[in-house]
Amino acid sequence: MNQEVIQSTVVPVIYLLSTVLFIFGIKQLSKVRTARRGNALAAVGMLLAIIGALLELGVVDYRWIAGGMAIGTVIGLLFAIRVQMTSMPEMVALFNGFGGIASALVAASVYWALVVQRSPAGKVYEVLGTDEAITVMLSILIGGITFTGSLIALFKLQGKLKKGQPILLPARHYITFVLLVGSFAFGGLAVAATASDSVVWILALGAGSLILGVLLTIPIGGADMPVVVSLLNSYSGIAASMAGFVIGNPVLIIAGALVGAAGLILTQIMCVAMNRSLLNVLVGGFGVTDGGGGGGGSDEYTSVTSCGPEEAAMILENAESLIIIPGYGLAVAQAQHAVRELADMLKARGTKVTYGIHPVAGRMPGHMNVLLAEADVPYEELLEMDVINPEFKNTDVVLILGANDVVNPAATKDPTSPIAGMPILNAHEARSVFVVKRSLSPGYAGIKNELFEYDNTMMIFGDAKKVLQGLIGEVKDL
Ligand code: TAP
Repeated sequence: MNQEVIQSTVVPVIYLLSTVLFIFGIKQLSKVRTARRGNALAAVGMLLAIIGALLELGVVDYRWIAGGMAIGTVIGLLFAIRVQMTSMPEMVALFNGFGGIASALVAASVYWALVVQRSPAGKVYEVLGTDEAITVMLSILIGGITFTGSLIALFKLQGKLKKGQPILLPARHYITFVLLVGSFAFGGLAVAATASDSVVWILALGAGSLILGVLLTIPIGGADMPVVVSLLNSYSGIAASMAGFVIGNPVLIIAGALVGAAGLILTQIMCVAMNRSLLNVLVGGFGVTDGGGGGGGSDEYTSVTSCGPEEAAMILENAESLIIIPGYGLAVAQAQHAVRELADMLKARGTKVTYGIHPVAGRMPGHMNVLLAEADVPYEELLEMDVINPEFKNTDVVLILGANDVVNPAATKDPTSPIAGMPILNAHEARSVFVVKRSLSPGYAGIKNELFEYDNTMMIFGDAKKVLQGLIGEVKDL
């Protein structure tokens, strides 16, 4: 088959197939049950896209490509094997950053090879065409923002940058606005200049975008960080889509647009779950607390009651209904198998057991669903917030395992609380509430939780897995 036939018939079919696989892959990712298959489908789609691109290019040096793929595969594999579930958002942030910089570099290399090296005296918009010249600039701008923005998000999630708290520079909105307008101006000047003159404007655009990424991300902190990671994910898709226009690759345009749209939808879902507008998240400042107090109240606890597994097991023994609320601490303790074992034992004794899943429990969307699925907890027992909330007032016992912000009544009761308006699981309405955590330390939002002082609440201090093992031992002995 000659190159012409390959390019006109084989390559479009491969691209079409890869696009279909991406779409079905994303569709299947939306359900825990089918997520693994969705991931595999999208990976096959990506492999096909790479094969299609190589066939389209025709003569390429496969040694470089094979070398790059081998190194990338090894690094990816090591990351995937070693990363903890709780560090997933950090890994996603890193991948977004790599995606952004890769798109910016693709655009920059096209600009360098086709414009600067080939026609140094020609105007950029004439050599590349106006549309393509604009997409090169946008690719560099969005890719640069995504790169540094994602690195800042990574450091914040790791608590290495001001413990993840917002950093609020004076006049930051003006600085950001001026830099944004300036970057667009640099891009415009680059498009209109001759190739050799445009280099300086391109460098200014690149520098502006890198600084913008930092400025846009540092004011955001606390519980808003995963939202920003999702938004940066969307940016990385848009940057890839732009790079697709630059190199004229339809599958990159489509895949980038899919990532861009999916990231934006996820961002919106997370904002709704926390009852915050995207603008409110982006303007930043959330998480800055005067000593971590919940709104107007003091952050000291005065009347907390605690008990051990033995006492709790006695109450569980008599409970007809139990709602388990998993949170970030359950993931940290890797107690998903222990919780299932306890639930199975109680179900065998006739207790009705369900799980209340808050949409932003944990550190990433679907975190609790994935965690509990790992222990084969039946899907039908995992009830979403809207479904489970009316059930609490008729429930005997609630067992909160390493969750904190998502059960904090201040969200609905204290309008001055930093999480005011965030929908919560109404655990406090149950007859008895057990909260399993290691101390009275705050959760992600850094604020006090008055639930711990409620009359119907008892704390069981300890690592979630150890406490659950203690409870299992006690229930066995009953
Ligand atoms: P958090 O409010 O972060 O509380 C987790 C609690 O787990 C902590 O108070 C901690 O207390 C406890 N803990 C840690 N390790 C533990 C262990 N080994 N055993 C037992 N307990 C342990 O968690 P949450 O209720 O799941 O809320 C999630 C937070 O993340 C919310 O603020 C939410 O807005 C934010 N967020 C999540 C997402 C997504 S998509 N999930 C997105 C954006 C924001 P101790 O240190 O005392 O043990």
